Amino acid sequence: MTPKAELHCHLEGSIPPVLAHELAARNGLALPDGLFGPDGTYVWRDFLSFLAAYDRVCSVLKTPRDFSDVIHSYLTRAAAEGAVYVEMFCSPERPKALGISYADWVAALADGIDRAGRETGIVGRVIIICIRHLGPDRARAMAERMVAEPHPYIVGFGMGGDEAKYMPADFAPAYRLAHENGYGCTVHAGEVLGPESVWAAIKALPVTRIGHGVRSIEDSALLEELARRGTALEVCPGSNVALGIYPDRAAHPLHRLIASGVRVTLNSDDPPFFHTTLGTEYEQAGLPEAALRRITRAAIEVSFVDEATKKRLLEGVPP
Ligand code: ADE
Ligand code: ZN
Repeated sequence: MTPKAELHCHLEGSIPPVLAHELAARNGLALPDGLFGPDGTYVWRDFLSFLAAYDRVCSVLKTPRDFSDVIHSYLTRAAAEGAVYVEMFCSPERPKALGISYADWVAALADGIDRAGRETGIVGRVIIICIRHLGPDRARAMAERMVAEPHPYIVGFGMGGDEAKYMPADFAPAYRLAHENGYGCTVHAGEVLGPESVWAAIKALPVTRIGHGVRSIEDSALLEELARRGTALEVCPGSNVALGIYPDRAAHPLHRLIASGVRVTLNSDDPPFFHTTLGTEYEQAGLPEAALRRITRAAIEVSFVDEATKKRLLEGVPP
């Protein structure tokens, strides 16, 4: 099995329907209306209704143990598909709304990572992610909290949410704080919006990676700039096709992005929402084994894990 590494998967977006049912039942919560279709899968129509469905799934999370179990569950499933390293995007918004302290939430995530590591050998780390449409003040507060209460498993800072809201420059103070304190930085851009969104992100923010960034393919000067900077793209083809950004995998620019010389990684984003997994992304990439291994090595190289762990992980994935 090809060894795999993943840099772009959202904690709440990793919850499969069966786990959402389990969490709701054990927390005595009703599942939100309209979350599931007749076939039992999540229902949404477009990018914004996907974000709304994603928020509804968050409502099944109630206790620190829930967060621990969700990350443990994802990491063990990813390990079964050959993942050796996963960076999870984790948003402090839901635990905050529940009155769970940041320290308790981080400890719960670390416990889930440790359990998965003991059981499967997988290495897991966390990227604290802010939500663009909630605005720069919330993002800044989140970065301040992350810096004030460091944990060795919290290695990066990122932003998801509605790409059409605010400008990357609005979030520069939050990102500057994260960067100056040694956190790796990434941002969703060039997913729903075009190359101008990626330009704005790389000009305003200290990012070494772009979440998605696939629409950079529409601008050859941008591709050159990304390659020159060594900025990596966290590419999620199944997500892009499910959200209608490309009609099918054949139309997806994955191969053209690789050919352009930009560093590319493969990821699942919100796997059960998009009927995919990390293993499926590798399988469906249409790339030979050697190219897939290069992608795994690239993901480890541009990951935000400490250098000693990076070196050890790379030794396990010979070119
Ligand atoms: N949050 C979860 N998945 C996302 C995506 N694909 N784009 C933006 N924000 C997200
Ligand atoms: Zn994402």
